[in-house]
Amino acid sequence: MGKVLPYLSLVFAIWVSSCDSLLPEEPESEELLDGPVEGLSPEQERTFLAGDIAFTDEIFTPATGLGPIFIASSCAGCHAGDGKGHPSNALTRFSQTDNGVLVDKLLDKGGPQLQHRSVPGFTAETIPKEANGVSIVVAPAVTGLGFLAAVRDQTLLDLVGQQRQEGLVSGEVQWVDAPDFFQPQTWQIQNEGRYIGRFGKKAAAINILQQVVGAYKQDMGITSDFDTEDPINFGVSSDQIDPIVDPELPASTVNNVAFYIRTLKQPIPRNQGNPDVISGKAIFEEINCSACHVSSLTTGVSDIPLFSEVEFAPYTDLLLHDMGPELDDQHVDGNEKSFEWRTPPLWGLGLAPNSQGGDFFLMHDGRAQSIEEAITMHSGEAKTMAEAYSGLNQNEKDQLIKFLENL
Ligand code: HEC
Ligand code: HEC
Repeated sequence: MGKVLPYLSLVFAIWVSSCDSLLPEEPESEELLDGPVEGLSPEQERTFLAGDIAFTDEIFTPATGLGPIFIASSCAGCHAGDGKGHPSNALTRFSQTDNGVLVDKLLDKGGPQLQHRSVPGFTAETIPKEANGVSIVVAPAVTGLGFLAAVRDQTLLDLVGQQRQEGLVSGEVQWVDAPDFFQPQTWQIQNEGRYIGRFGKKAAAINILQQVVGAYKQDMGITSDFDTEDPINFGVSSDQIDPIVDPELPASTVNNVAFYIRTLKQPIPRNQGNPDVISGKAIFEEINCSACHVSSLTTGVSDIPLFSEVEFAPYTDLLLHDMGPELDDQHVDGNEKSFEWRTPPLWGLGLAPNSQGGDFFLMHDGRAQSIEEAITMHSGEAKTMAEAYSGLNQNEKDQLIKFLENL
């Protein structure tokens, strides 16, 4: 199933270029996630395409540097069609905690991320018995991230202040240690060497490049000019390095992929004139879902001018929230709490089944198999909103879900 969307778009491209008149029903372009934002220059389009090929088509093997320990052999193996991933490709992270307070990251036993596969001659990791905090996370969609990347830090801090003042919810930013290669934008605020994280389910990555470098290394065992060290199964031995000369990937490829991710278009809302969708949106605001799933953000100045000072509707505040005990997996990675999760954008939500094998697998680990289930699993700071949802009549619930399906 992982290949369905890229395959469809390939077939579509061949149709278009070969014979227009034979075109059967065109796939609705607004249902495809994997295209660039409008307005790229020809040179930017070439970079986008190079990044697309590296992200979608490049499958690593032991000969090209895969491993020694790894989880998957291509980015698209988990991010099919740039949409949400399937639980069968989930990542596992673990740590030792005491009541949600970090005791040991278990780095000497294979932490913080489980690489459960290895190339021949090496030993894959297993979860050590000391690990009592275990997080399972399903890949999010990677579309529209360039807009989220360009929101000024001050905007996020203002949202924290505004939420405190209104008293409905209380989001927090996570301050993250910047990697050596990090180059801040003019608006990025430094706090003792740390910057505000915004990507990943725990807001642990400051920018897209950091996320991409981490994905190459931690998910596939691919070293690059940005991080030249293979992931090692320290639980077995500290010299378990694959024989391929590091770096296995040049900075240019990593930069192309980061550019590709930054310039993927945002999901386009559908059926916005439908009366149920309109009523559903009003209910969403009324019962304060929008306290966290913020419907309008504006970017600051971006080094890619297309993203400068644009208003957009991601339905996230990019902040961490206490989501209650059911969603608390006791795992801690950084300065977040084990019960905190970053509000996920809701744009593209209705398209999730296209890349999840026809079904919904929502929330961080895919445990919710419908939008309704996802809503009723909200607790902690979102308890009153989930209760307000349960208190709606059936018609109102249907309208709210219809609105969400069309984002
Ligand atoms: C084994 C599956 C897997 C592979 C392979 C993988 N990812 Fe991911 N990706 C994930 C998961 C799971 C997350 C969420 C991680 C987190 O919360 O920290 C994620 C998060 C991301 C994000 C952040 C999205 C957001 O909204 O915050 C980006 C960007 C990303 N991946 C890009 C890539 C790129 C580029 C590659 C290839 C170099 C890649 N991924 C390979 C599973 C994968
Ligand atoms: C306190 C902040 C907050 C409020 C209020 C809130 N949410 Fe969420 N929402 C989140 C967080 C955080 C997650 C991710 C939780 C996880 O991954 O375990 C989430 C997840 C979701 C998801 C699943 C998204 C996905 O990609 O898996 C849906 C759907 C959703 N929320 C809808 C709603 C609706 C509808 C309401 C109002 C009834 C609402 N939310 C209120 C913070 C909030």
